[in-house]
Amino acid sequence: MFEFEPVARKTVPPAHFGYMASGVDDEVTLRANREGFLKFQLRPRRLVDVSKVDMSTEILGVKFDTPIIVAPVGGQKAFYTGGEIPVAKAAKVGNHLQILSTVTTSSVEEVTAARGAPIWYQLYATNKWEIAKAFVTRAEKAGCLAIAVTVDRNGGRNQETLTRLQRTDTRECSACHDRSSMEANLRRRPMYDGVDVTGLTSGQSSAMTWDFFKRLRDTTKMKIVIKGILAHEDAKLAADAGIDAIIVSNHGARAEDSGRSTIDALPEIVEAVGGRMPILIDSGFRRGTDIAKALCMGAQGVCIGRPYIWGLGAFGQPGVERVLELLRIELRTIMQQLGAPSIKHLTPAMVRRA
Ligand code: GLV
Repeated sequence: MFEFEPVARKTVPPAHFGYMASGVDDEVTLRANREGFLKFQLRPRRLVDVSKVDMSTEILGVKFDTPIIVAPVGGQKAFYTGGEIPVAKAAKVGNHLQILSTVTTSSVEEVTAARGAPIWYQLYATNKWEIAKAFVTRAEKAGCLAIAVTVDRNGGRNQETLTRLQRTDTRECSACHDRSSMEANLRRRPMYDGVDVTGLTSGQSSAMTWDFFKRLRDTTKMKIVIKGILAHEDAKLAADAGIDAIIVSNHGARAEDSGRSTIDALPEIVEAVGGRMPILIDSGFRRGTDIAKALCMGAQGVCIGRPYIWGLGAFGQPGVERVLELLRIELRTIMQQLGAPSIKHLTPAMVRRA
């Protein structure tokens, strides 16, 4: 799967590639997300019938063929014609849950149609409740099952890889961006169609607190998921608040440079939650073994981001299909090695801190 990255580096404009690849500051978290997996070892078990492996799993009451989830990534037309649509078609082939970004370049209705099943909608709430409400209402109407609220982008970020690669790309790129103003640029994003952006000063939500979730609960019947939890204290508060699920995430190391990987954060969160709600995880997952480690440790699903964008940028839909397929093959292989014929057979005893 890693082979798709250099192909995408050639096919995708450098500034767009830089947007996707960038971490923050020194990219310590970006490296930590990968290195974190080395701290945990799997413990294979023998003489279990694994001639058939069932990777199907239920996520918030819906059955999927795999616990591998297509993570939200913004602006996918920057990587390949059609952007989120070929991704949705690839997700359909493998029956993956797909989470669509607020800053998608295809509408939630089009993506849902291409996926052929309800998706989840990731919410950037902005700093204006009416805008968040408009997105939520539209996502619900489009049949989305859950709203995954990003809580880890509450300020600025220093993306040096992006800045460096942007400087190598002198094209105006006006088909993708309108740099004249934030409002003009947001007008390129279909989820902003018909949304009154007066008073919007940021796509982020620096003022968001737990009160937002009370308000959200009164606004939608969709399941509410919090994306971006990293500390057991917050995981407990989320469970206490009746949140339906959380995603342990450092935003693919795109939000901060704390140096902490999500796989390192997972155990304390699993303990704090005590089974009260499902826990999903993302950031740095690249191999079936990475996914197996998180599932053994108590995650119910693993979201994948950059790798499918490599596949998309390199080859469009077939590239995304193949990346997802490789991950499924690798997960099946390690489940056989672990003696786990189904997801529920992946247990904490199969993983040890090295
Ligand atoms: C958007 O979510 C980004 O990380 O750029």
